[in-house]
Amino acid sequence: MEESPVAADVPEPDRARHAELARELEEHRRRYYGDDAASISDAEFDALMRELMAIEERHPELVTPESPSQKVGGALSEHLAKVTHLERLLSLDNAFNDEELDAWAERVERELAGQEYHFLCELKIDGLAVNLTYEHGRLVRAATRGTGRVGDDITANALTIADIPQRLATDDPPELVEIRGEVYMSTADFERFNAGLAAENDRRREENVRLLAEGRRPLALETLYSNPRNTAAGSLRMKDPQATAARPLRMLVHGIGARKGFDIDCQSHAYQLLHAWGLPTATHNRVVDSIAGVKEFIAHYGEHRHSVDHEIDGVVVKVDEIALQGRLSATSKVPRWAIAWKYPPEEAVGKLERIEVGIGRTGRATPYAVLAAPVLIAGSMVQYATLHNQEVVKAKGVLLGDTVVLRKAGEVIPEILGPVESLRDGTEQAFVMPTHCHECGSELRPMSEGDIDLRCPNARYCPAQIRERIAYLGGRAALDVEDLGYVAAVALTQPLEPATPPLADEGDIFNLTVEQLLPIKVLIRDPKTSLPKIDEVTGEQKIVSFFANLKGEPKKTTLSLLENLEAAKQRPLARIITALSIRRVGPVAAQALAREFRDLDRIAAASEEELAATEGVGPGIAAALVQWFAEDWHRDIIEKWRAAGVRLAEEGSDEEQAPRPLEGLTVVVTGTLTDYTRDGAKEALQHLGAKVTGSVSKKTDFVVAGDNPGSKYDKAMQLKLAVLDDDGFAVLLAQGPEAARAVAAPTPED
Ligand code: IVH
Repeated sequence: MEESPVAADVPEPDRARHAELARELEEHRRRYYGDDAASISDAEFDALMRELMAIEERHPELVTPESPSQKVGGALSEHLAKVTHLERLLSLDNAFNDEELDAWAERVERELAGQEYHFLCELKIDGLAVNLTYEHGRLVRAATRGTGRVGDDITANALTIADIPQRLATDDPPELVEIRGEVYMSTADFERFNAGLAAENDRRREENVRLLAEGRRPLALETLYSNPRNTAAGSLRMKDPQATAARPLRMLVHGIGARKGFDIDCQSHAYQLLHAWGLPTATHNRVVDSIAGVKEFIAHYGEHRHSVDHEIDGVVVKVDEIALQGRLSATSKVPRWAIAWKYPPEEAVGKLERIEVGIGRTGRATPYAVLAAPVLIAGSMVQYATLHNQEVVKAKGVLLGDTVVLRKAGEVIPEILGPVESLRDGTEQAFVMPTHCHECGSELRPMSEGDIDLRCPNARYCPAQIRERIAYLGGRAALDVEDLGYVAAVALTQPLEPATPPLADEGDIFNLTVEQLLPIKVLIRDPKTSLPKIDEVTGEQKIVSFFANLKGEPKKTTLSLLENLEAAKQRPLARIITALSIRRVGPVAAQALAREFRDLDRIAAASEEELAATEGVGPGIAAALVQWFAEDWHRDIIEKWRAAGVRLAEEGSDEEQAPRPLEGLTVVVTGTLTDYTRDGAKEALQHLGAKVTGSVSKKTDFVVAGDNPGSKYDKAMQLKLAVLDDDGFAVLLAQGPEAARAVAAPTPED
């Protein structure tokens, strides 16, 4: 290709680097939008783009229409028809710090001097942009953003998304309107969806053992998705709308394109209108009148970004007044009336120093990565990351000594995405899974044929398993015993002194006495490195009394631990079952078992078939239960708990069952309630016979909505369901559905 004389003036290193960056960015963009599998993190992509733009700022002659800086992201899929948008879908400029945001705001102020205007703050939903065309209130086309001008026709798939109405809910629809929105998958739905795929893979692996033995072809395994965005993008562009329908996709509106037959003055008012038409609009939006207000919004969601039910990658700030948006206009790629504030990345790179193997409460051996030094991800320092099992280590392709990309989302344990191969120097080494449990020396082995997870079989005596079970028992999912955290579990099972710990297993947990606890001493470890802490003065390891104060008396927390354990004896049966750490029996299965059998002895006496026939239990869990109850020492634990006064049955289970006034009702709980945690509210409802589900549909009888209820609330309103606030919820529990309906909003007659 012939060079333009002007571009030839660009110094060779800049020109070469620009070309290299352009090539790399194009490739990443193709993978990101086309194949839905990002090859690098968003933060790395942004960094490359900024480097490219910095070169272009120095040499504007490099800015050609082909430069990645001039293209709106998005590629087209081969199997879908193409659609030309009536109005172009623009992208957004980014601000990564206060200076960049201020510079944008100053420009707006300059251009709009003397005018009154407001900023509309919205969350930047990490999903896929769609353009929905409604003619006379009917959805005639749905398309992806694609190149910004031309997108993929996804009408059939969009019609399977419950949030996208086929008809606008108005008697007076406009002649035409293009609705812009983001299709996404909620974090919870993504996790459930991926867990479903993983469970299906487990089933296929088991099946494959049989197939291979018979000399038949094994079943292919599903590939797990790496994040909600890729899952949503993949789901939306599937060939078969039925397959899309099976994915829990959501949508939120964030703009209007072409329109005929109606006028709007402000974007925020437009949302009210769209909401009234039955389109889902975000509840988090806020209109503020200064950039200080914008910064408050940004700071708030920076801290609370994981309390939103979907992933967000920033905040979008828009000038609210439509006429002024027009005045500010747009470049070829981005509007000047809006900007995206990007939060610091939730991904980072670190050096993988070693891989250790932890033994879990059911004996599972889980490799985890230890970084040479902690790295900052999403505001917290991270040094460990889970690697799940040896196959995952292999699949991720990481070697010891690699520089690796880590990702952290919310409360989830950070995970390694993969190595940065270009930084290898040849000294990296492959990880070899150990053959023996490092805490008790037992040989690690799979639980059953075809199981990829290796386990320590020494459930009874392995110190790691005992410690982990005790810590789990005290945790929120099980008995929720305050003051029985991980370190207390270590102190109770592996103290430095005395030589014999007070607990040999969980059997005696409810018989602990102050006298047993006072002499316990532990080694203080650095939480970051888990190495023993050294006393700066004496140079010796720090050893402290865990339960006694300096005077040798019990600490306050010691007494409250014992009180809390006493109270935990009366926890609902499901929590008691969960606390036993039976393999495969988590809180959900425990609930199902408690509901059906109402008594631990009846569960112990049930046959595998009876257990498997229980709704929510199934054959895998039934087999694990039968195996668990077959061990005498497990039965001893139950007898010790019984003798200590632990309630092992639901009240009234013997003669008549507890009344179930909410039997047959389906209830969704969303938002923050004043008197109940989400789990507590669920438990209370289930106890009275209600079914509690995660998503709102026509079949939902009540939606209990606390503060910040999010999109489930919108959906409930849209479907005109009965919505209960804190007081209404209390009425439902105390007086039943009739009385609750009378206080619900909206009333069903509305
Ligand atoms: S406004 C001209 N608002 O982010 C205005 N976009 O990086 C363009 N996005 O293409 C869009 N949440 O797909 C807007 N609240 C929000 C958004 C949002 C997510 C996406 C959208 C856009 C991309 C730009």
